[in-house]
Amino acid sequence: MTHSVSMHGSWSSRWVFILAATGSAVGLGNIWKFPYMAGEYGGGAFVLVYLLCVAMIGIPVMMAEIMLGRRGRKSPINAMRDLAEEASQHPAWAAIGWMGVAAGFMILSFYSVVGGWALSYVPEMISGSFNADTSKESAGAAFDGLIGSPTTLTIWHTIFIFLTAFVIARGVEKGLEKAVKFLMPALFLLLLSLVAYAMFSTDKFMDGINFMFNVDFDKLFYPKGDGQFSGEGVLAAMGQAFFSLSVGMGAIMMYGAYLPKDTAITPTTVIIAGADTLVALLAGLAIFPIVFANGLDAGSGPGLVFITLPIAFGHMPGGIFFGTLFFVLLTFAAWTSAISILEPSVAWLVESWHWSRKKAAILCSIAIWALGMLSVFSLNILKDFHPFVAGQTLFDNFQYITSNIMLPLGGLLIAIFAAWMMERDAHHDELHVKNGGADISYKTWLFLIRFVTPVGVSLVFLSAIGVFSV
Ligand code: TRP
Repeated sequence: MTHSVSMHGSWSSRWVFILAATGSAVGLGNIWKFPYMAGEYGGGAFVLVYLLCVAMIGIPVMMAEIMLGRRGRKSPINAMRDLAEEASQHPAWAAIGWMGVAAGFMILSFYSVVGGWALSYVPEMISGSFNADTSKESAGAAFDGLIGSPTTLTIWHTIFIFLTAFVIARGVEKGLEKAVKFLMPALFLLLLSLVAYAMFSTDKFMDGINFMFNVDFDKLFYPKGDGQFSGEGVLAAMGQAFFSLSVGMGAIMMYGAYLPKDTAITPTTVIIAGADTLVALLAGLAIFPIVFANGLDAGSGPGLVFITLPIAFGHMPGGIFFGTLFFVLLTFAAWTSAISILEPSVAWLVESWHWSRKKAAILCSIAIWALGMLSVFSLNILKDFHPFVAGQTLFDNFQYITSNIMLPLGGLLIAIFAAWMMERDAHHDELHVKNGGADISYKTWLFLIRFVTPVGVSLVFLSAIGVFSV
């Protein structure tokens, strides 16, 4: 297969791809979800398992996704069908793309609601609601007020999904490439200054470090403290690795389809995954000291960043300015992620149904918006509606099913296809392997993707359903 470019366009350089893929990876997953998940599962052991999953599973799968995307040069559904044909395999491998589309709809539906939270904190910050009088109670009440109001949530959710559809309708090159170039470094700098705040203005920085890096497996394996083993925490860490790296549903595959042929995939992937991991760790280092300094509970769930950081901004010099800037940047981080979730579905409709990008973007986002209303309501009027799992709202269900089941399953299938179904020649071609395959980085990848990734994902699944314990 020798498509040189996709019909949708291509990135103008390797750095643009790195920015776009980093823009996809760095988002609410790093700053909102990672700290609250780490908090719920007791800190260090979760962080360690998370880092192991990124290195042993996430990075190899990301390489495989980029490789498949670039070779297929189409949306994941069509790319997988073509690649299966090239490798003389069954066309049912296109199921990777189909499951990815389903996962993407579900992820974006709740992601947009949370993106709306970030957006709503921008005017909240500007108006000076958070100031020297801000306490954990008032910051908590502000957050509860937001999620308690279906109308407010709906307005912000609508704006967020509109922004996402708008960029996708215009095509990726025109808007986002430029925005990402400035915004990602700015977000990074701002996070560093929040870490500095946590370090110098709270006396709990070491408590934050200890919480994040002191490995206590009991908290991960026996979360209830009653000696009852649970593999859930390990599954949650693996799911978070997939979610944060944007792998397992074809978003990165889609971006790979726009990648120039001569770009080296391995170092590019390491840069993207490294940046993503760094941002998550920095977010934790900014947030946990504030949690402890204010006597908050690290395990308090999805409100964690939205309650802790406003306390910090309220008390720091220039807090209104930095706070506003922070939520603007968080919104941008969420935005650049959201577009990567929508792109595969839209590209598929353009390829296969010959819709215009605009029509496809509008109709997909309406469907996703409607699905997102379930998450909106499950935070307030349906708060006690737990149809599937005791104590879990629909919003919780969407997060659980996508991160903990669909993404790892997608990653597993991607790994099996790339490692076992594809021809070696195709690997050598895409990964620029010389020396007839003796290249050390290629051999490492091949070992990870053939054995470590599939076995690792399977073991984590099995331990979570209670097949074995440690
Ligand atoms: N990685 C993004 C974040 O951490 C979210 C995201 C973007 C994503 N694209 C994805 C998650 C594809 C899963 C699959 O916020």
